[in-house]
Amino acid sequence: MDRRQFVNQLGQGSLGALIGLKAMRLWAQTSGHELPVDCSPPAPGTAKHISFNTSLAILPRKSAWDLSNGEITRLQSAYQAMRDLSTPNPNDPRGWMQQANVHCFNCSGGYDPSNVEIHGGWWFMPWHRCYLHVHERILGKLIGDPTFRLAYWDWDTYPSHASVPPVFISQAPLVDQYRGAQASDVIPAEITGPDNMGVVMGTQGTAAFMGGDPAQGLAGAMEQDPHGPVHLWTAEPNPGVGTEPPGCFWPTSPNGQPVDQSQTVGCLDMGVLATAAQDPVFFAHHSNIDRLWDVWVQTPGSQGNYKNAAWLNHRFNFYDENGDWVYITVADVLAQQEQNNLRYTYQPPQSATALTATKPGPVQAKQGKARAVKPLVVTSGTKPTAVGTKPHVRSAAVPLVHRQNLKLLASGGPRQYVLHIDGLTLPPNENAIVKVFVDEPNANRDTPIGPSFVGTFSVVVSGSQHKHATVRNAAFELRPETAALLAQQKTLTVTLVPRLVNGKEPPKSSLTYRRIYLSRR
Ligand code: C2O
Repeated sequence: MDRRQFVNQLGQGSLGALIGLKAMRLWAQTSGHELPVDCSPPAPGTAKHISFNTSLAILPRKSAWDLSNGEITRLQSAYQAMRDLSTPNPNDPRGWMQQANVHCFNCSGGYDPSNVEIHGGWWFMPWHRCYLHVHERILGKLIGDPTFRLAYWDWDTYPSHASVPPVFISQAPLVDQYRGAQASDVIPAEITGPDNMGVVMGTQGTAAFMGGDPAQGLAGAMEQDPHGPVHLWTAEPNPGVGTEPPGCFWPTSPNGQPVDQSQTVGCLDMGVLATAAQDPVFFAHHSNIDRLWDVWVQTPGSQGNYKNAAWLNHRFNFYDENGDWVYITVADVLAQQEQNNLRYTYQPPQSATALTATKPGPVQAKQGKARAVKPLVVTSGTKPTAVGTKPHVRSAAVPLVHRQNLKLLASGGPRQYVLHIDGLTLPPNENAIVKVFVDEPNANRDTPIGPSFVGTFSVVVSGSQHKHATVRNAAFELRPETAALLAQQKTLTVTLVPRLVNGKEPPKSSLTYRRIYLSRR
């Protein structure tokens, strides 16, 4: 079906008429894969508040490894039903392609750059929780089963569950032909192994874990790594070998139109936010992030969720299981409301010990009186500094007052020190993974995650219609063991280590930054 035939068909569709022309998103169907020609948000009028069905049973979302045969069949039937809905009615908002497109029009990959961006900041956690909820309700309704719950991919049960879950490899509706990871591939330990997950789950500050005000472009530790690198790994576990573009519709042609690459090169849904939700394993990946958010809130030392009204009262719009345009607030889905309204809990992985779930963060031993200090600027220029593809080292002398404060943190004082990298800028078609170390001038791509590791900066490209540069700031909360290292040094050394998911050197990097500095929170 070419685009004109498709538009003709839309003209006859009752749903198309119902939603209105403005809301229509056109799809070119090529080679079995669908191209988001325009994933700008729909505008079907004023959204009403979602009605939660609080009489439903509260049931567990389980690890994809813990499903009974019946639950596997049910998961498969639900996704089959959702895919089937897209065939006669590509514009049904509950159908597979439109469900995937919800993610596209929320990740500024849509054609209007002023679109909402729910990545790179504090909307990341709650938006994806809401998305999973409506997705789950739609799947349940399509198979007439209100007890249907999603499954999660606990890649942090390491390494036994650090591969694509078998049901997403063997059950047709759960497979995506534009996924690079095969059954035998294992996510590298640097991404979801216990050392990195220990650092991420031990983060105490709210912004440090879940991201800050989107105006600051500050993604949290969970979004930076594991989230982003798991996307890139699922798409292509062994990058740097071929010349694959990061997605099926990348790069764009000279006139700015996305080009379908699916016939000529391997291409990759999960590696691009605009197409990521065209791989069913996306929803299992995000269910695990959602589960770990709950674990983090309960972890000793965690400062928990934001309490400001701007965050709590924010509304996200979705289509519900009846195709109605509804909104959900952040406060609707937090803490006890998760059970009250969304009607699920997370059953911990049964077949293996989830390391991150049992590793409590360090408890604050004493409340210190850290002295006020000026930020310690490691490097700052009027022009952006290029990171390059090899380890990039910068250093600055550490004044005594900083060392005294760092000693306090090292002995269990409040987590007040943050290493900032501001103005990180990438062209819209480039991914990045950069590990950051302090007091380790010779850090390289093989340096293990230990006291000198402070965190990872990552970006997953938005999509072929996202034309503006990606600009982010990074802020890494220093842990006591890291402060102990720094307190002994008169020089603060910061090493940025660019890498691919498989640990190789990136073939190129256009990443630049403006400023590196250490400050009290
Ligand atoms: Cu909305 Cu995993 O991306």
